[in-house]
Amino acid sequence: MEVAATVEEMRALRRRFEGSVGLVPTLGFLHEGHLSLVRAARQRDDRVVVSCFVNPTQFGPGEDYERYPHDPERDLSLLRPEGVDAVFLPAKEEIYRDGDATFVEVAGMDDLLEGAHRPGHLRGVATVVAKLLHIVQPHRAYFGQKDAQQLVVVRRMVRDLHLDVEIVARPTVREPDGLAMSSRNVYLSPQEREAALVLSKALRQAEQRFAGGERDGERLRTAMRELIGQEPLAQLDYVSVADVETLQELELVEGAALASLAVRIGRTRLIDNVILQS
Ligand code: PAJ
Repeated sequence: MEVAATVEEMRALRRRFEGSVGLVPTLGFLHEGHLSLVRAARQRDDRVVVSCFVNPTQFGPGEDYERYPHDPERDLSLLRPEGVDAVFLPAKEEIYRDGDATFVEVAGMDDLLEGAHRPGHLRGVATVVAKLLHIVQPHRAYFGQKDAQQLVVVRRMVRDLHLDVEIVARPTVREPDGLAMSSRNVYLSPQEREAALVLSKALRQAEQRFAGGERDGERLRTAMRELIGQEPLAQLDYVSVADVETLQELELVEGAALASLAVRIGRTRLIDNVILQS
């Protein structure tokens, strides 16, 4: 497993790779969710590149950029047994240089879900993913359904900019009790960890109501809101039952819908989602 710390080193490694290349972009501090993407890439592509980069532009002022967990040695030791070919671990200055004036913005997303609650976040994501795709030039890039709006934004950017890469989505990996794996789960105290179960519980309840025939978007949202409201440590940012492509809220679910939510547990903001589908 080779490690590239600079764009130049990464490009030199990439030029040596023959066959198909799969990229798994991450913020680092890896968990089983990330590793499931690595394994999917390992199965499908001849070469696997993982990037670990805490991307400053996708964190807003007052968010957790400064304290985001960071342990490259730990990440490398988790990646070695997975048969990863290269890890890209750039410093901030490698990716963002003085005078950078070009950003990627997928219009129409800023009023919705994460876009509405984290100004600039999706632009930061689109910009860094565009940079990583250009540096690594993979045939495929792997993303988790856990960050559903990010996936919509990345797919849209790839389509609109004619990028020659296939975006592969993989399901959310959960802890045995249902909590979606996230690097941010390490922030939770034992009491908060228990309270955090309310996210997956609310989504499970929505799935059950949907399976029972409920198709009214507002009733599904209200039921989720009420369940979150019962947890004293939880503060709701949003609940949504939206079109899976446009992410517009649905009054009536006709085909599939994305049920998603963002909840603060103490100082930790968590997101989760499920697809409702008959
Ligand atoms: P990060 O939060 O580290 O996640 C990296 C990838 O792992 C994303 O595609 C995310 O959706 C996926 N992932 C996270 N938790 C998961 C889980 N429990 N199950 C399955 N997949 C999961 O998302 C980012 O980083 C960044 O925004 C990035 C795309 C790297 C751009 O900076």
